[in-house]
Amino acid sequence: MNKKVILDVDTGVDDALGLLLAIRSGELDILGITTVNGNVSVEQATSNTCKILQLAGAEHIPVVQGAGKPILRSTYFEHRVHGKDGLGGALNDMTQRKQPEDGHAVDFIIDQVRKHPGEITLIMTAPMTNLALAIMKYPELVQKVKEVIVMGGVVQGFGNVTPTAEYNIYVDPEAAKHIFWAGFASIKLVGLDVTRKALLREEHIDSLGDTEIARYVRASTADYLQRYQERNGVRACAMHDPLAVGVAINPDLVKTRHYYVDVETRSELCDGQTVCDFQNRLSVKPNVHVCLEVEADEFINLFTRVLRG
Ligand code: RIB
Ligand code: CA
Repeated sequence: MNKKVILDVDTGVDDALGLLLAIRSGELDILGITTVNGNVSVEQATSNTCKILQLAGAEHIPVVQGAGKPILRSTYFEHRVHGKDGLGGALNDMTQRKQPEDGHAVDFIIDQVRKHPGEITLIMTAPMTNLALAIMKYPELVQKVKEVIVMGGVVQGFGNVTPTAEYNIYVDPEAAKHIFWAGFASIKLVGLDVTRKALLREEHIDSLGDTEIARYVRASTADYLQRYQERNGVRACAMHDPLAVGVAINPDLVKTRHYYVDVETRSELCDGQTVCDFQNRLSVKPNVHVCLEVEADEFINLFTRVLRG
């Protein structure tokens, strides 16, 4: 039986690559995709997600729109990285046929978890507002979710929004803190510590061939590659969200350690920082399985093999 998953996305360039990997892998039973504000507005993220499902021939998968803003804070879009539309302009010419389902993402997550207790893996590749709201509305959800895989945070390196914070956590740190403290059986943190090692380079994109999907990957990552080179000195696409999907497909892609991880929410300089208690100085029970090593080549091979189809 394929692993039951719900993906929570702010479809953006790398969310879209993660969706394509999830859909084409054939390894995941995608119950639905929930959208949230983040890289772009929730409306734009929803439209982008519907278009990606059209591109992948997977219009049967439900898309359910979620929170339009973080729990307490204002929206913090990232058009500089993902472009005006959120997909690097790659699907501007596509007419969107697929529409989102009625209802709200929070209720969709609750309904699915009640329907499949103990079976669902939540793959979070965006600010975690929807999940935090779902827990507040239905606290029993925590005991009924099998695993939460979070693309977010950084525990040994520098941030990608501020010197200390990674984007998904930074946008809604209160949501992340609530989730880390909620008591989930398993939270796996796929942070920048490992996603920065999972780099899609132009030769990998060339290896995808000349299919519609390959042409989409090339078009959507063009500006992203440029931006990454300017910021990090290497022409590559950090596979943040796709690696979270990869970990759901094959947990052996990463090595984790169990630590107490918390989120700073009241700091002038370090808001949104994921603080990892490596030496158990605070004597708080570990709550997060932190990914510290990744089989990067194996993951890139998985991604290119699946997308080559
Ligand atoms: O820090 C990377 C994360 O922030 C990714 O999920 C990317 O899509 C952005 O949301
Ligand atoms: Ca994302």
